[in-house]
Amino acid sequence: MKALVITSLAGPSALAVQEVAKPALKPGQSLVQVAAGGLNFADFMTSKGGYPGTPPPPLVAGREFAGTEEGTGHRVMGYTQWGAFAEETAAYPNLLWPIPDQWTFEQAAAFPVNYFTAYLGYWQAGMTPDSPPAFTIHRAKAAPYTRRVLIHAVAGGVGTAAVQIGRLLGVEMYGTSSSDEKLARVKALGLQHPINYKRNEYEEVVKNLTRGEGVDAVFEMLGGDNTARSLRCVSEFGRVIQYGTATGRSPQIDLRAMYAKSASVQGLWLTYLAQKREIMEPAWKQLSAWISDGKLTPQIGHVLPFERAVEAYRLLEEGKNYGKVVVRISE
Ligand SMILES: NC(=O)c1ccc[n+]([C@@H]2O[C@H](COP(=O)([O-])OP(=O)(O)OC[C@H]3O[C@@H](n4cnc5c(N)ncnc54)[C@H](OP(=O)(O)O)[C@@H]3O)[C@@H](O)[C@H]2O)c1
Repeated sequence: MKALVITSLAGPSALAVQEVAKPALKPGQSLVQVAAGGLNFADFMTSKGGYPGTPPPPLVAGREFAGTEEGTGHRVMGYTQWGAFAEETAAYPNLLWPIPDQWTFEQAAAFPVNYFTAYLGYWQAGMTPDSPPAFTIHRAKAAPYTRRVLIHAVAGGVGTAAVQIGRLLGVEMYGTSSSDEKLARVKALGLQHPINYKRNEYEEVVKNLTRGEGVDAVFEMLGGDNTARSLRCVSEFGRVIQYGTATGRSPQIDLRAMYAKSASVQGLWLTYLAQKREIMEPAWKQLSAWISDGKLTPQIGHVLPFERAVEAYRLLEEGKNYGKVVVRISE
């Protein structure tokens, strides 16, 4: 079968579509004929050896896919650690979800990672109906108040999912991007406060627009000094949900800002949470209810044929993507 192979950890230039053996199924797994793959920033990091737990190359790339399950004929979308960008992939049933009837394979390939990550961000921020009481952010201000969130890379895959979900949860959203054009598209999805970080200092904008109060949570995936700056954006008992380091720099902490407001930084890793049925099932229940009501639509900026998968990686590397980049793997 054809697969996109990471031939060495030298980044996108070392990726190649090659003939490889079909995947060997482990107990409990099923085989999926893959129609489309969803590209994640983690795939780009993996190609450079920057993702934890990656086995040595050669290795089949890709962690998100949509296709047809062999044996049942069901249309499914799924999540794995690698091996998704191939004509066939092996999948565990707890990481496969039925594709909504009205969705194409391309739309489905743009769903699992972005929407579960964004949903679980709100879950950890205490903003979803199934958030545990321990995650509820205490604010001295009397209820009801409008909860606020700052979303970095708001025009990306997870970012656009977070805006659609935030709108449904009634959250006031602030979001950063490098491009006015991308921000205009996300504004149409419901983002109230777009911030172009090339022109404006997001800390200042958040401070001014919230009259110094700050936001309840920040979805932070940049790392470096952005973690410290994001901590300075939160209100009392606020929380920075750290779920990535796209800048390639380790997160810096501003302890003074944490002390001053009893603020915290909390990690989020879908790979870990996805193993917990008691967390994933309520999340899927809510997400699938919204899908049935036509309230969630994966945002896809680019669809590329399999032979041009390297270009797909470059779009993410250069920050030129809007929403999801999808690779068409077979007809
Ligand atoms: N922890 C988890 O379980 C989990 C799950 C999914 C994703 N993630 C993380 O979430 C982040 C977003 O993932 P995604 O797949 O949805 O990607 P994405 O947001 O669609 O693409 C990355 C975006 O980040 C922005 N960016 C800002 N600084 C950047 C830099 N130095 N290099 C590259 N991009 C930069 C760019 O948008 P602008 O130019 O508009 O700013 C770019 O379009 C990544 O850090 C990823 O690793 C984590």
